[in-house]
Amino acid sequence: MTEKTLILVKPDGVERGLIGEILSRFETKGYVIEGLKMLQPTEELLAQHYAEHAGKPFYRSLVDFMVSGPVVAAVLSGDRVIEGVRTMLGASDPTTAAPGTIRGDYGRDWDEGVQKNLVHASDSPESAAREIALWLY
Ligand code: PPS
Repeated sequence: MTEKTLILVKPDGVERGLIGEILSRFETKGYVIEGLKMLQPTEELLAQHYAEHAGKPFYRSLVDFMVSGPVVAAVLSGDRVIEGVRTMLGASDPTTAAPGTIRGDYGRDWDEGVQKNLVHASDSPESAAREIALWLY
């Protein structure tokens, strides 16, 4: 079934010049870029986006990191794209993410106590619909 998902190239991916590399992987896999936007997220936007994590120990460092520079938001479409893109990202921890995944190939820990893992992707159809409306439209 054709689905849509929302991905964010996080500030570390933008700063390291990996926007093209990351989007290219999704295109090479066969997913279609339906929408694309580069923006500086506000604290308000991030509070809405990460509402489910409010109160968790990592919440403040996550929001501080995400507001630290521009991000690229993209809507991707394709059959089972939500599951497929999450698989392509790999585990949240970039040091242990499997080689061959985006986080496994380009990410690692940088001794700053912040999880710089390059890309966010929606984890369910409900999250995708909410996040696409939040970031792109
Ligand atoms: S949970 O509790 O299992 O849902 O957490 P997890 O899926 O591992 O992580 C949720 C998002 O929080 C980010 N995260 C962090 N960011 C910065 N610093 C620290 N220390 C940190 N710990 C977790 C993690 O990368 C996930 O971000 P997204 O954007 O959703 O991928």
